[in-house]
Amino acid sequence: MKINVFDTYEQMSAYAAQVIKEEINKKKNLNLGLATGSTPEGMYENLVEFFENDELDFSSVTTFNLDEYCGLTPSHSQSYHYFMDEHLLSKVNVKKENINIPEGDEEKHEDICKAYDKKISQAGGIDLQVLGIGVNGHIGFNEPGDIFVADTHLIDLTDTTIEQNSRFFSNGEEVPKKAITMGIRPIINANKVVLMANGPSKAHAIKISLEGPITPQVPASILQLHEDLIVILDKEAAAELESI
Ligand code: PGA
Repeated sequence: MKINVFDTYEQMSAYAAQVIKEEINKKKNLNLGLATGSTPEGMYENLVEFFENDELDFSSVTTFNLDEYCGLTPSHSQSYHYFMDEHLLSKVNVKKENINIPEGDEEKHEDICKAYDKKISQAGGIDLQVLGIGVNGHIGFNEPGDIFVADTHLIDLTDTTIEQNSRFFSNGEEVPKKAITMGIRPIINANKVVLMANGPSKAHAIKISLEGPITPQVPASILQLHEDLIVILDKEAAAELESI
């Protein structure tokens, strides 16, 4: 594991984008695992800028997103389909047919989950997976629990996650209680993983994930087993780490 700590969010975002750029430039048809949330927004801005400056070509890249809420249409402003379009996918030359985001349809979740895993494995797995982290140590929407769930699955979001996510929803609007998330297998099998976190609210999650026991109660702790994990933090998120 390589831990990189930056003074500012802007610096960590620029570094994360640089890592992705280098991987795409090494392998044009990269299978790129993407995350949503406030953490990677700055990284996406940098990637769009690279594209606009002709420094990056997404035409052969295939993307796989981690998760989607159940019950929001793709055009809902808080859906992850919308987020990805807004922050990256509509702004770069990734081909529509190469974009993969699980559909947040609870009723059809069994078929959706199976098809998503099949798509990932038929593509040869994820080359580079970008992750944020929840204050409870979740990655994607793999929430704390008794086991690590390997495959894409329907998940009941924890109260902590629902509360964290409520900041994105207007008063009275229902915050989704369920989601469909990629499981742990494709994440841990990715050739390279980039884990990003910023701000003081993430300091404890980072500490227990990177320096605590490996346990499904802290899903991100399994990343300690990954041989090519790049951790990108601002100094606030790194504040509780003892090993740096
Ligand atoms: P955030 O979410 O980037 O909005 O903090 C990260 C996560 O919950 O995985």
